[in-house]
Amino acid sequence: YAALKAEALACQRCALAKTRKNVVFSDGNPGARLMVVGEAPGAREDKTGLAFVGPAGKLLDLHLGSVGLSRADSAYICNVLKCRPPGNRNPLPVEIQTCTPFLRKQIELISPQAILAVGTFSGQFLTGMAKPLGRLRGEVYSYQGVPVVVTYHPAALLRNSGWTRATWDDLQLLRQVMDGA
Ligand code: URA
Repeated sequence: YAALKAEALACQRCALAKTRKNVVFSDGNPGARLMVVGEAPGAREDKTGLAFVGPAGKLLDLHLGSVGLSRADSAYICNVLKCRPPGNRNPLPVEIQTCTPFLRKQIELISPQAILAVGTFSGQFLTGMAKPLGRLRGEVYSYQGVPVVVTYHPAALLRNSGWTRATWDDLQLLRQVMDGA
């Protein structure tokens, strides 16, 4: 794990290396049973080097808390891309392709009991399906044998609170998966 992290922190594989301040490898507990996978670092994450520490991260913490999970103890948090796309634009397909070997290795090493994919890019990568988020959520998928639940990105919820109820349902589904139901 330390070697993978060191490799990511020194990564120059794509052009984002030129504009990033920090590589954002993760936050939370590497020994956690739950792995949360978001999209890409934002401004605050780029500045601190930690995943989901801005406004979306605060909401994510509340969501995790609502089903008895926390960043400090029971969640390991990372992203599809480890570097911030300028202006928070969407990840490019070539960036996803170049960066996700890190994520794949991270999943292997963390070996979580369940994965929560937040947002379209994470949901599509982990399910292998090119569907819009509204049609990905509500089901349990498998990534290399690890159950995956897909939900809305907390940043999307900050813009459209109409998805709050669906997100709540997704978190209940995650809880059931983690409780072995
Ligand atoms: N949005 C993400 O997808 N990831 C972060 O780390 C922060 C905001």
